[in-house]
Amino acid sequence: MFVFTTLALLIAAVDVSCGSPFYGRIIEREDQLARSYDYVIIGGGTAGLTVANRLSEDPKINVLVLEAGIPDQKEGIAILPRYLGGTMRTVYDWNVTTVPQEFLGAANSVQSLTIGKVLGGSSVLNGMMFDRPSPQDIDAWEELGNPGWNWQRLLPYYKKSETFTPPSPEQAARFGITWDPAVHGTQGYIQSSYPNYIYPLNQNFQDALISLGLQQSKDQAGSAIGVFWSPNNLNPHNQTRSSSRSGYYDDFTRRPNLHALTSRHVTKLLTDKSGGEVKIIGVEYVEAGKSQTKYVIKAKKEYILSAGTVHDPQILQLSGIGPKTLLDKHQIPVVVDLPGVGNGFQDHPMGHLILNLANVVHTPYEMEINATWDAEQKALYYKNRTGAWTAGGPNSVAFLPLGNYTDRAADIISSYSSQDATDHLRTGLDGSVLAGFKKQHEVLLRHLSTAKMAAMEFMWLSGANRRYQMPFSMAIQHPFSRGFIEINSVDPFVQPTIDLRTASNPVDLELYVEALKFQRKVVQTPAIQALGPSEVRPGSDTVTDDEIRQYFRGSISTMFHPSGTSGMMPREIGGVVDSKLRVHGVKNLRVVDASIIPLIPASHLQSTVYAIAEKASDMIKGDQ
Ligand SMILES: *[C@@H]1O[C@H](CO)[C@@H](O)[C@H](O)[C@H]1NC(C)=O
Ligand SMILES: *[C@@H]1O[C@H](CO)[C@@H](O)[C@H](O)[C@H]1NC(C)=O
Ligand SMILES: *[C@@H]1O[C@H](CO)[C@@H](O)[C@H](O)[C@H]1NC(C)=O
Ligand SMILES: *[C@@H]1O[C@H](CO)[C@@H](O)[C@H](O)[C@H]1NC(C)=O
Ligand SMILES: *[C@@H]1O[C@H](CO)[C@@H](O)[C@H](O)[C@H]1NC(C)=O
Repeated sequence: MFVFTTLALLIAAVDVSCGSPFYGRIIEREDQLARSYDYVIIGGGTAGLTVANRLSEDPKINVLVLEAGIPDQKEGIAILPRYLGGTMRTVYDWNVTTVPQEFLGAANSVQSLTIGKVLGGSSVLNGMMFDRPSPQDIDAWEELGNPGWNWQRLLPYYKKSETFTPPSPEQAARFGITWDPAVHGTQGYIQSSYPNYIYPLNQNFQDALISLGLQQSKDQAGSAIGVFWSPNNLNPHNQTRSSSRSGYYDDFTRRPNLHALTSRHVTKLLTDKSGGEVKIIGVEYVEAGKSQTKYVIKAKKEYILSAGTVHDPQILQLSGIGPKTLLDKHQIPVVVDLPGVGNGFQDHPMGHLILNLANVVHTPYEMEINATWDAEQKALYYKNRTGAWTAGGPNSVAFLPLGNYTDRAADIISSYSSQDATDHLRTGLDGSVLAGFKKQHEVLLRHLSTAKMAAMEFMWLSGANRRYQMPFSMAIQHPFSRGFIEINSVDPFVQPTIDLRTASNPVDLELYVEALKFQRKVVQTPAIQALGPSEVRPGSDTVTDDEIRQYFRGSISTMFHPSGTSGMMPREIGGVVDSKLRVHGVKNLRVVDASIIPLIPASHLQSTVYAIAEKASDMIKGDQ
């Protein structure tokens, strides 16, 4: 039995909107809420806190953020590069898992998807890669029917979100790091910099690729093709993680018009259709662990859904906004029949060649096995923020177009193009969703055939994977496989079905097969041979294409880049939001986060999510 607490009751109970002692803090109770809010943001993650910050720049506008997680306590796992990855499967992780992946091997079938349940969301958990995609990755969004979403128009927002600190002159000279100030920001709230310590063996990877004739990008921030040094979301002054929490929230808690209420789980959006058009009239939520009491909060202007790629579609579907067939199955009254909601799910599944390196002095793994070295690095870190404790995320990466890593590029393109675009999608999809995928198929093929869009990322020293000796990782950047997220219960506390459908399009696997052959070629270069490498996995008995395919079926797993489940595209082609991020068919609801990405770009996602949120903030302000 539920007790409904309506806004009217809340207003009757309290009015703390003037001179409240709670200003400057994360508020903890409903009786600390303001009388009303202009905007209610669902989800205080990477995007949600960015939008909250920008909207509350106007002191006349008040903003409430509802976050399901709790604030972190700035403990090591949340802020120190040394403990990167340590937040996985903790109280800050939603701990969701996929359904068995039928196109992968049985042992690798159920995958954990780490997503942030904490103020700051996944920006508190991510692998600290602060790279950008190439211009074509963003231009492709415009080609899908989104005017204004191209590289030239998004670049100012990448810059707005960033304060870039170049490497020290010594570091730049030693590692050959170059940059182009024209593409960087200097006033943004997210700090992008290089760690004070760079593992020397990162250089071997750059040298190896250059020796194979590949280009080194002058600056990935303007041209993310080739091999390059990626910065991290790292505060250069104290070598700690820069997150949406540290950048967009912590310094702004004195704003009386910015409130965040944590441990609040949104159960649905309340809708009203009486005026002929669908409007959101409130957000229903509960306090974590106290699901008997439901609260409703209202926004005067707009509601902004920033709950992430998994939870946006869940909340929309529970609210009657989604594919009619799914809503009917759960007997949820259809408010807007929007077949795209939850479809279009994309990720960058990652695979690894595991190396044993006989001739290296230090790898990140050493901290796990050599307590003396770890203690020395810790002492350095606390003395003057130097040493290996400053190095967390990878820095040495390559994003390569197909033609730069395989001579089978033309075959692969023709395998994709000879497919009917919808051949490998799941059955039962609405015609509009199929039409949208056809369009994506066409746009992707056009770009992948050029040298301007990367097909594969190669990542050296991906330090987050410490259980491996030395993973030399790779991830497909533009998979043609599509997954989905849908509710399997009307109970908002039941995890939705998460199906990545990894490798459902079998041609995707061919990119890995070719990638592994390329990696072996890289390992043969003098620059890597100097490290004394021997292949641990898949190993010398994995030779034929079929053996390599089997290896990947048993080992590829998510890179934690969930995106695409509220795709920005016209409604006729399965879009969920329009190019102003407004949910189709709903008057006052926008989605702002990675779920609106219609085509996953070749890059780690965080810099793009900040750019999206910055652009969205300007759009929302412009519409006020
Ligand atoms: C995730 O799982 C871990 C380990 O079981 C647990 O400690 C943590 O509380 C869980 N996170 C949440 C948000 O429930
Ligand atoms: C690191 O320094 C920045 C300011 O440069 C500050 O905002 C942040 O709180 C610091 N982080 C920690 C963990 O001390
Ligand atoms: C562990 O680190 C210490 C301090 O740097 C070093 O002297 C020692 O040789 C290392 N031990 C091993 C087994 O590598
Ligand atoms: C940091 O301290 C170490 C150990 O005392 C010293 O060798 C190093 O030069 C210092 N680095 C900086 C940048 O001050
Ligand atoms: C990489 O691709 C570019 C563009 O097609 C080409 O100019 C270059 O020669 C290629 N490099 C290698 C090593 O294949």
